Amino acid sequence: MQTFILGIESSCDDTSAAVIQDDVILSNVTAGQEVHKNFGGVVPELASRAHQQNIIPVIETAIQKANIRKNQLSAVAFTRGPGLLGSLLVGTSFAKAFSLGLNIPLIEVDHLQAHILSHFIRNTDRTNPVPEFPFLCLTVSGGHTQIVLIRDYFDMEIIGQTIDDAAGEAFDKSAKIMGLPYPGGPLIDNLAQKGDPKRFTFAKPNIPGLDFSFSGLKTSFLYFLRDALKNDAGFIEKNKHDLCASIQATIVEVLMSKLTLALDKTHNIHPGSRLLDVAIAGGVSANSGLRGAMENARDKHGWHIFIPPMQYSTDNAAMIAIAGYLKFLKGEFGNQSAVPYARAKQGAI
Ligand code: KG4
Ligand code: ZN
Repeated sequence: MQTFILGIESSCDDTSAAVIQDDVILSNVTAGQEVHKNFGGVVPELASRAHQQNIIPVIETAIQKANIRKNQLSAVAFTRGPGLLGSLLVGTSFAKAFSLGLNIPLIEVDHLQAHILSHFIRNTDRTNPVPEFPFLCLTVSGGHTQIVLIRDYFDMEIIGQTIDDAAGEAFDKSAKIMGLPYPGGPLIDNLAQKGDPKRFTFAKPNIPGLDFSFSGLKTSFLYFLRDALKNDAGFIEKNKHDLCASIQATIVEVLMSKLTLALDKTHNIHPGSRLLDVAIAGGVSANSGLRGAMENARDKHGWHIFIPPMQYSTDNAAMIAIAGYLKFLKGEFGNQSAVPYARAKQGAI
């Protein structure tokens, strides 16, 4: 029997809905929120209001595009956390009502697990390769930076994470320092295309083990620009391409060095076994510098890499739908008492 699952994502500033038929996506519709652009970050109250406005049209469009009827849906999956509570409440309340109205099961999904599980979405012809267990995933988003060891779909262990800012925040805050609007990550990526990544160097964090720290880098960037602007008020404008290329290269280098260390360590834990597959996920996995560095590691060191298609890198409901499908197969259903959680789970996710 074929299953059709509606996935709903509303954890931050994207309202998204997707329909999946088994593990193949039929539709994936996202409404972004321009309203935060000039605030330097997501304003929680404005985000919840925009979700309220967007959720019904986004879900109706997703079902229409999938070319199915509502009563064909086998279940509804939604992001329960982590994220902004007011934003999560919109998706959670909608999913509960939808499940009651159609008398179909409700499936709770963890946003960070879903970013990783997006690698199990199949193309229509189902020929695309998927990672083999166990594998490593670097999950890099606006709120999180984690290296996760995935033993099975829902058996995941965080083996490294940031102790302060997330990688996406490092991009967004650097952009803000340069006077660029939110979210700055994609803008830095764009400007970096024409820049020299070796032109400027910034202090890299020196954190032992597999953990990350990005707050020192942000401060180093801030002080560097403050000094440069004292001598030349037009410094940022004149050097924006090189500045973006250099800060991007520094962030990517930090991420890749920890990922390399994680791969070495896990390889030692599984001696004699194959080199683990290595995936990236989350909004920052859309970054061309990080994607390029992964491809380099594949070409130079034989890494078996998994990079999500662009539409599944930044927040989307397709990843919620695939996570929902995998839980549906296990018969793992939620109920009407489900409440959102704001903070990420620790240790095992
Ligand atoms: O996963 P995501 O869409 O939302 C969260 O769960 O946080 O990640 C959003 C983050 C933002 O910090 C955004 O600036 C960053 O991903 N981002 C990028 C790029 N595209 C999105 N950072 C660098 N380069 C990009 N191309
Ligand atoms: Zn995300």
